Amino acid sequence: MKDIRKEIAGIIASQAGLSEEEALALIEIPPESSKGDYAFPCFKLAKVLRKAPPLIAADIAAKIRDNALFEKVENVNAYVNMFIDKQFFTRLTLEDVAERGDDFGKSDVGGGKTVIVEYSSPNIAKPFHIGHIRSTVIGNAIYKLYDAVGYKVVRINHLGDYGTQFGKMITAYRHWGSEEEVRKEPIKTLLSYYVRFHKEAENDPSLDQEARETFYRLEHGEEEEVRIWEWFRSESLKEFERVYGMLGITFDSYNGESFYSDKMPAVIEELKEKGLLQESQGAQIVDLSQWNMAPALITKSDGSSLYITRDIAAAIYRKKTYDFYKCIYVVASQQNLHFQQWFKVLELMGYDWYKDCVHINFGLVSLEDGTMSTREGRVVFLEDVLNRAVEKTAEIVREKGVNTENIEETSKIVGIGAVIFQELSNSRIKDYVFNWDNVLNFDGETGPYVQYTHARAASVLKNAGVSGSFDVKNMDLSAICSGSAYELIKEIYRFPEVIRDAADKYEPSVLTRHIVDVAQAFNKFYHDEHILVEDETEKNAKLLLTSAAKQTIKNGLALLGMQAPDKM
Ligand code: ARG
Repeated sequence: MKDIRKEIAGIIASQAGLSEEEALALIEIPPESSKGDYAFPCFKLAKVLRKAPPLIAADIAAKIRDNALFEKVENVNAYVNMFIDKQFFTRLTLEDVAERGDDFGKSDVGGGKTVIVEYSSPNIAKPFHIGHIRSTVIGNAIYKLYDAVGYKVVRINHLGDYGTQFGKMITAYRHWGSEEEVRKEPIKTLLSYYVRFHKEAENDPSLDQEARETFYRLEHGEEEEVRIWEWFRSESLKEFERVYGMLGITFDSYNGESFYSDKMPAVIEELKEKGLLQESQGAQIVDLSQWNMAPALITKSDGSSLYITRDIAAAIYRKKTYDFYKCIYVVASQQNLHFQQWFKVLELMGYDWYKDCVHINFGLVSLEDGTMSTREGRVVFLEDVLNRAVEKTAEIVREKGVNTENIEETSKIVGIGAVIFQELSNSRIKDYVFNWDNVLNFDGETGPYVQYTHARAASVLKNAGVSGSFDVKNMDLSAICSGSAYELIKEIYRFPEVIRDAADKYEPSVLTRHIVDVAQAFNKFYHDEHILVEDETEKNAKLLLTSAAKQTIKNGLALLGMQAPDKM
């Protein structure tokens, strides 16, 4: 679609003696629509042109006034206020939506460059709890946003399937576990062993020693340890995949921490060669005190590798394998220091591309009755949350007495969508408290509200008998060039820009907010205007707009990983 801001910049640039880029940077969107759709302030030109800003504004206004893009151009003090020709703008926007359909909003600013998005990354044999929902849902939205702006995205689930905790888990299993119990309910059972391990180890430190030795044997490929570990891993994956299925999420790779176990010796060797390793109480570290950071612990005194070592190995492997333009890590802000540390180590190793590794962090999610702790077993399983969302939605839908034929399917789409939407509504860095009333409120700025708006638009179109596409080029659109219809068009026009902005900022909430704006603008139009009027020309223009609003909401929800039901 034509970018109107750029068009204006082009027009003004030649008249004001600026480059198109300079002009573009100066163009503003006035706070009130009475001051135009776009405004150009002339203060900065005063020095160069040696003229008072109001005179410059008058000059520019006179020169651009006749351009067909504008309905009206005014100069008010130092500002040139521009009113876009509404017919032109309406046609431009709605033609684009009609032509591009499900692709409306997408662009190719990424030019096919490869971006890795690493997200979700739960720990095996541990619950996939509500805390993981953030990385999973935010990461999935970031993947979709980058895909939509033209990057080739590789989705990686960096499973926490390695490390000393498996020494603990295996030790606990050997002492108190039963195979049958694990098979029945793998993760909940393994979690209970883990909790027990920590309780017992408080009084019996020899358990910790045993766990360390067990992990050492695992890392050195001892058959028995490897067998149990592989079994834990596959049972856990089955559970995770069930949750991903509910959320409609897939990955290109499940190469987790264990995948790098045989790639670590080379990394440790390289660190040694580059003179970065130091010994400290038997352990190998990289000293980062110069940058006011705790040292990066590379190997323990018994030689076993650590979380950070695996991250360094993974980054080097990914650069070699995918030659990424960016590698995006969607991981909680509790791990800020961890990422700063190993990004610094990469830099010290001389890898310039450390700058292309980005930690996209996010705040904590807590429950109304306190935070969560795996060690104490105080967790809420994500799967239970999703199931409960579906059940609660079914209750609400039944109460409202709508759409009785397909309650089950609708409740899934709406209930799970509600959890996703809530997750992506807050800017990611904020901590938030999970609250059922907020999540499932059909009237607030929620998933159900937006989906309901989509279904409303669908039903308007259905009642009008619209099924095929519109011949926009031959339609008279004057009936929708004012009032709340026009306000809705402005929101729709902004959609592609919002997607680029959300991707740039790694911030899905930018898009979430805009979808709410589109839905609210549509509902205002729906209440203000009678759509199915006698006059065919007017009716068709309004139906075209309804269909464009529906398409925009649908495309927006798809980028968040949500479905848009036609009936609700
Ligand atoms: N498995 C870790 C956890 O659950 C998250 C992994 C984050 N990714 C990374 N490359 N370190 O806390």
